[in-house]
Amino acid sequence: MDLMEYQAKELFAKHGVPVLPGTVVETADAARDAAAAIGGQVVVKAQVKTGGRGKAGGVKLAEDPDEAAEKAGAILGMDIKGHQVHRVLVTLASDIAEEYYVSFLLDRANRTYLAMASVEGGVEIEQLAVERPQALARIPVDALTGVDTAKAAEIADAAGFSADVRDQVVALLQTLWTVFTREDATLVEVNPLVKTPDGKVVALDGKVSLDDNAEFRHEDHAAFEDKAAADPLEARAKEKDLNYVKLSGEVGIIGNGAGLVMSTLDVVAYAGEQVGGVKPANFLDIGGGASAEVMANGLEIILSDDEVKSVFVNVFGGITACDAVANGIVHAFELLESRGDQVTKPLVVRLDGNNAEEGRRILSEFAAKAPEGLIEQVDTMDGAARRAAELAAAK
Ligand SMILES: Nc1ncnc2c1ncn2[C@@H]1O[C@H](COP(=O)(O)OP(=O)(O)OP(=O)(O)O)[C@@H](O)[C@H]1O
Ligand SMILES: [Mg+2]
Repeated sequence: MDLMEYQAKELFAKHGVPVLPGTVVETADAARDAAAAIGGQVVVKAQVKTGGRGKAGGVKLAEDPDEAAEKAGAILGMDIKGHQVHRVLVTLASDIAEEYYVSFLLDRANRTYLAMASVEGGVEIEQLAVERPQALARIPVDALTGVDTAKAAEIADAAGFSADVRDQVVALLQTLWTVFTREDATLVEVNPLVKTPDGKVVALDGKVSLDDNAEFRHEDHAAFEDKAAADPLEARAKEKDLNYVKLSGEVGIIGNGAGLVMSTLDVVAYAGEQVGGVKPANFLDIGGGASAEVMANGLEIILSDDEVKSVFVNVFGGITACDAVANGIVHAFELLESRGDQVTKPLVVRLDGNNAEEGRRILSEFAAKAPEGLIEQVDTMDGAARRAAELAAAK
């Protein structure tokens, strides 16, 4: 999960990384009040999960509360690289003597952690990384030894921090590493980290990505979720522990195994092009040992997607054999009916692998009793994808 700046700064503050006071608001009037409470010059900053907000006009200085309201009014509702601004952070403005860059991240390619630091931070950091990579120090960090004083000093010196800020930066790097490890982050980044004219080092911006796999260790992280921005179907799927991603398309997809589902999306997209441009409606992996209930929950989510015109169930029987999956589908229909959801969208099912024949027999028997054309079986993945796409295109 990626955090917004104000959330990242909450975590910074919790662990002792120096940040400036600020308040996140959703209206221009609230921005005025926030600015009045902070006092003096403030900066109004768009809270969206993308970089380059400053360059897009989403970061503005305001001299007084009225100007803060005016700037907030202009920024709220803005579109920054496809992200709509629903919130702004009103924060104390800081005078800036120098802008630096520091970050820690999980370096998957090298199977280690990586520290990056530069004394030339700011909004041009991406360009700097490309044009003068030597100005951006990259120091691997061992997971077992982490960032102690010596490591922090190594990073600070590789970046060339001057003597007047070195001690502060060395301390800050260790605190930032604490944020990284204690919060189970995969990225913490401060750009810019600034030196104020009176020589203090402060984080003016913050970017944090949290590792979703460690969610169970952090009950407090649930509060960071942007419920308003979440897709309602995805939110419901999450409640039911389903591995579901909403896409924009007409063919609902259910499969077992992430790899199979990914390739199902590909073949449906391809087949969809041939029949005039229908697309897969979602990603849904019901996993290896899917029960009837999981199948029912999956079908329920997919069928309540208004865009969906047909559903493709693509299962390769393994540990859970095809007959169990077929029974699962039958029970799923019964479960849905008992919940008052009559299935009316056509289902194309492809069963292959362990016990496929028995699975197909169970489904054929069920299909014969179901309304005409509600359940079809096709033996090959390509064939089934084509059929599901045709059915969606015909609606
Ligand atoms: N509180 C503040 N006081 C003074 N100037 C600020 C403040 N916050 C941000 N700025 C200025 O605005 C610039 C852009 O701000 P910030 O880094 O938060 O936005 P950004 O566009 O997300 O940057 P990027 O995505 O490139 O990291 C900063 O480099 C800094 O010069
Ligand atoms: Mg920034």
